[in-house]
Amino acid sequence: MTKSNHELKKSISCIDKSGYSISKRESETMSKKEEPPKTTKTKKTPQKKPPVSKTPEKKVKKEPEDWIEEILPKQRPKVAQKEDKDLSDVAVNRIPGIGPAVADKLMSAGYITLAAVAHASPIELVEHCEIGEQTAKRLITAARSQVGIGFRNAKELLKVRKELVKISTGSKALDSLLAGGIETSSLTEISGEFRTGKTQICFQLCVMTAMDKKLGGLESGVIYVDTEGTFRPERIMQICERFDAPAEEVLSRIHVGRAYNSDHQMVLVLESPKLIREKNVKLLIIDSLTSHFRAEYAGRGSLLERQQKLNKYLHQLLRLAEVYDVAVVATNQVLSKPDVLYGETTFPIGGHIVAHSCTTRIFLRKGKGDKRIARVIDSPHIPEIETVFSISAEGIIDPEDST
Ligand SMILES: Nc1ncnc2c1ncn2[C@@H]1O[C@H](COP(=O)(O)OP(=O)(O)O)[C@@H](O)[C@H]1O
Ligand SMILES: [Mg+2]
Repeated sequence: MTKSNHELKKSISCIDKSGYSISKRESETMSKKEEPPKTTKTKKTPQKKPPVSKTPEKKVKKEPEDWIEEILPKQRPKVAQKEDKDLSDVAVNRIPGIGPAVADKLMSAGYITLAAVAHASPIELVEHCEIGEQTAKRLITAARSQVGIGFRNAKELLKVRKELVKISTGSKALDSLLAGGIETSSLTEISGEFRTGKTQICFQLCVMTAMDKKLGGLESGVIYVDTEGTFRPERIMQICERFDAPAEEVLSRIHVGRAYNSDHQMVLVLESPKLIREKNVKLLIIDSLTSHFRAEYAGRGSLLERQQKLNKYLHQLLRLAEVYDVAVVATNQVLSKPDVLYGETTFPIGGHIVAHSCTTRIFLRKGKGDKRIARVIDSPHIPEIETVFSISAEGIIDPEDST
């Protein structure tokens, strides 16, 4: 059923230029896919354009980016497709009046869809895409005119929320604590001391997202940003055995980027949108969010700079979650405050910046043996309650005496 560890380790060892490691077979098919359309294609009659604009565009020739249009309809989540009448998911080169060079700059910086541009600020586009402020403002206005960006009826929002995908944690107790699992379109923080199971939960979420639907998974892609060098494909394989899921298939859907410093960590996020679209990614993991920031900006003097950078990063993550309907999960270490007399003596790193940016925060602590206690410390829809789960060879499970 499963192949040998050796064979599988070999298959995930190929690293592409963005820093993501992908299976060799996949990297070959990817590079084939990534080739811009052959010249024969450009000669074809111009593609049918969506009714985006009436302005006489300067006959934008079929650009290499148009291949994104071709993959988008296939990759779109079905739920969103049937309801959305706006053009959120249309590629940026369809912004009325945009030139190919600017479209190229936007795409290279990760602004692939109209929604991504519509939700951006001019300063941010100037900084990331090397374009002028006026151009940035014009682009944002044009994108916003195509994308529904105003108020939405709460009834409509409820319907959207009911259709949100939830990723199971492997433990029924933990799922019910999280009202069904980890939500897409939001940023979830998992914090706790060393060995409390943060990384193990990430591994479990990888399997639950990547394995086939018939086995209870989402059959979707995962991006795993590994800042501590703790990603272990062998553990993924072990967890796959629990569900009789073919490990090779699951591993091929997980795209691992090893981040060696905070800048690299940030670049990987900017590179993500393309992979998200191509591989139908539903889960983006950052394990861990703060380790590099903490190491690089040690001491009180650099605290402000660290917090500013972390703030920017968290905003990027949150927007990525919302614009591309992805569950972003970030692990975080804790800091102990020995001077605290009552209650918790450890706190997640990053202070208010992290606290305010994350949609849901889960705090883990050790219990007896393999037991761990999870508490939701901040969520817009879940009360502050606790539950117990266990870490086993098969991943995250309910404690034996709980059923
Ligand atoms: N194969 C395994 N079988 C059972 N438990 C494991 C296995 N691998 C790791 N663990 C347990 O997971 C815990 C470490 O969790 P981890 O998620 O790596 O911690 P952290 O919170 O530091 O990321 C340890 O207590 C270890 O015993
Ligand atoms: Mg860890």
